[in-house]
Amino acid sequence: MSLSSTTSLRYAIVGTGMMGIEHIHALQTLADTRIVAVCDPHAPSISAARKALGPDRDSVEVYTDVEALLANGEFDVVVLASPNHTHRALAEPLLRSGAHLLIEKPLCTTAQDCRELLTLERETQRPGRVVWVGLEYRYMAPTMQLLAHARSGVLGNLRMLAIREHRFPFLVKVQDWNRFSANTGGTLVEKCCHFFDLMRLVLQAEPTSVYASGAQDVNHLDETYDGRTPDILDNAFVVVDFDNGARASLDLCMFAEATKNEQEISLVGDLGKAEALVTQGLVRLGLRADGWLQTNEQPINTAELPSAVQHHEINHGAHHGLHHGSSWREHVAMQQAIRNNTTAEVTLHDGLMSVAMGEAAHRSIAAHRPVAMSEVLL
Ligand SMILES: NC(=O)c1ccc[n+]([C@@H]2O[C@H](COP(=O)([O-])OP(=O)(O)OC[C@H]3O[C@@H](n4cnc5c(N)ncnc54)[C@H](O)[C@@H]3O)[C@@H](O)[C@H]2O)c1
Repeated sequence: MSLSSTTSLRYAIVGTGMMGIEHIHALQTLADTRIVAVCDPHAPSISAARKALGPDRDSVEVYTDVEALLANGEFDVVVLASPNHTHRALAEPLLRSGAHLLIEKPLCTTAQDCRELLTLERETQRPGRVVWVGLEYRYMAPTMQLLAHARSGVLGNLRMLAIREHRFPFLVKVQDWNRFSANTGGTLVEKCCHFFDLMRLVLQAEPTSVYASGAQDVNHLDETYDGRTPDILDNAFVVVDFDNGARASLDLCMFAEATKNEQEISLVGDLGKAEALVTQGLVRLGLRADGWLQTNEQPINTAELPSAVQHHEINHGAHHGLHHGSSWREHVAMQQAIRNNTTAEVTLHDGLMSVAMGEAAHRSIAAHRPVAMSEVLL
């Protein structure tokens, strides 16, 4: 492969399932951006990518494995959107190639695999190369507004962060890879790495211990794959202690699609409270100085999203379509880092920490005790 020295960025998409297609739609709206290659061993996924590419489809190279892509492709940036359990092995040659790299969440299925990728990143680093983890819930507009309140100081000393995700069951994936924890890392890694990442980001602190209770009570119990029943947890409560004395909780339910908001985030400091109601696109701010039950409601303005992204969201519903514009914002931010020669906003270290917190939560459920982060970070 060879890297371009021009300002136009050439992309290769590895894994063109649901998320790979979302990346294609987001990248198509960006200036000086070309998708030059797609790589997927599954013919229907390649067909879906070609359809998404529209008139660009005939100029895009198609590969069925990463080795062939690396041997023959010419690109500057790779988006790795293959199943979780393939990230560790596929990221290795991609890191060695020197290309800029966006790795979908979770970085890997275990903290150990994440650590190995961090070592590889250090060994293969070249000046200006950007390696980014797709923890894109940071870029959902209501989350960004909550973060702005946290940073402004208006809430005072941040003490409690409560994240509730009540949503639909896991979707069907190509070859049903997401039905087994060995492939996903377990629900609290696969799904909840987003929320553990938000906890560290909002509280600006590091986790010290994790206590969790959870189970697979409702979903996928009547499914079988080669005689095996899925083993993926569908509900949990997780409590995390942080090194600055703040605490956070996660309330996850995956059989609760009959709800108003998929995600509700509440942040309380000694001066006030901010709440992000993500699906409704609403942020509430209440300051204790203003008196009991006084809040300001702020609808979230998403006018900065290109119309193609907004249109896709409307067509695909809140669940599937570009994650409230966050995939698009993530690419805008990553391109700024590449073009301005700055570092990634979401690093492999962030990816490691979000996986390690999920791993600690799974261990806590199995052992019925709090798990110190030092037990999983080693
Ligand atoms: N950021 C988010 O919010 C978000 C949302 C959904 C999924 N994801 C992540 O994106 C990744 C893909 O998930 P998905 O929902 O698109 O799954 P999917 O099953 O829809 O697509 C995965 C694709 O990867 C392909 N693939 C498998 N092995 C490959 C290989 N060796 N090389 C190239 N391609 C290969 C499959 O054939 C399939 O087309 C996962 O890591 C998932 O956790 C992130």
